[in-house]
Amino acid sequence: MNIYLDNNATTRLDARVRDAMRPFMGDRFGNPSSIHAHGQDARFVVDDARTKVAALINGEPEEIIFTSGGTESCNMALLGHCRQQGVAARILASRVEHPAVLKCAEFIEETRLAQVDWINVTTDGVIDLTDVYNRLKSAPTLMSVMSANNDVGVIMPLPEIIAAAHAQGALVHTDAVQAVGKIPMDVKASGVDLLSCSAHKLRGPMGIGALYIKRGTRLKPMLFGGHQEYRKRPGTENVAAIAGFGAACELAQKELSRRTAHICDLKHLLEEGLHHLPAVIIYGETAPRLPGTCYAGFGGIEGETLQMALDMRGFSVSVGSACSSETRDPSHVLTAMGVSPRDAARAIRFSLGPDNTEDEIHQLLSALGELVPQLRSQ
Ligand SMILES: Cc1ncc(COP(=O)(O)O)c(C=O)c1O
Repeated sequence: MNIYLDNNATTRLDARVRDAMRPFMGDRFGNPSSIHAHGQDARFVVDDARTKVAALINGEPEEIIFTSGGTESCNMALLGHCRQQGVAARILASRVEHPAVLKCAEFIEETRLAQVDWINVTTDGVIDLTDVYNRLKSAPTLMSVMSANNDVGVIMPLPEIIAAAHAQGALVHTDAVQAVGKIPMDVKASGVDLLSCSAHKLRGPMGIGALYIKRGTRLKPMLFGGHQEYRKRPGTENVAAIAGFGAACELAQKELSRRTAHICDLKHLLEEGLHHLPAVIIYGETAPRLPGTCYAGFGGIEGETLQMALDMRGFSVSVGSACSSETRDPSHVLTAMGVSPRDAARAIRFSLGPDNTEDEIHQLLSALGELVPQLRSQ
């Protein structure tokens, strides 16, 4: 199998998480809404996991709604807000959001559920705070800014953004899918109103996520059905996945500083090596970034060509977010940062995880040292 360097796309399921999930694919199969012993067993597991997810972001268990993943959480935040606000709704979102927010905001705009305005980023990929202050004058009701970007890994200045939005009476949703479990997140300290996260980015299972809804924040549901999840998200809960999500959050909380130190060391090694190659640029390099994300442009080589060559040499890397790579469009994040579409198509994303080793980074650098001049000469 290839050396895996695409941890922003998804992460390997932690064996301890798999163990935590296993009983709920066997004898412990109750429906959490049933009042008999089987049901109550499942209810206990769901609520225990809710406590663990809440603890990782310093929220309260009652503020956590389980969803099918980051995409649903982001959609629920934006659409639920529009349904709640009716004609008063106005959305402000950054141009570098993941499609889970971007496409949802475009839908809201097209269907006239609300007016949508877009915030620019600087050439480093950080939200432009001057632009935020200006656009807040149009009195949006909800601002959506990601905590950390999935392509460049840039961490956004949330405290300033939230303070500015709240001063104008706007709520703030943050897509924290790439941040939760990788950097400390504290909903109480930040005061954020809505936060989306997803288990498979932090060594949990796919298809399970959560939306944090600050106590008192009003949001209408997007789905219609039973009374599950505080009447906010109907449907029988995915108990095994929720148990896994809880376990993954508990482990991430315990191991965060150790994982971060290890991954930072690896990224340092990688970027030092990349700087020895000619005509390589690391996007967002001077901005605060996630410990494991490095998005690099290789002058003169198409990203896709280099990605395929690396794949053949045994490395799984990405040309950008897994959700946009199928479209083969250059990263909208890089173009929003002012990178030309031609240069944006020459970028490769390396995203490191706790399982990666120094030896793997040395192997990657040695492969790049051979491939880059070879591909350039073609
Ligand atoms: C920043 C960001 N938001 C949202 C999502 C979507 O999450 P999910 O795959 O759980 O739907 C992703 C996944 O890549 C992401 O990186």
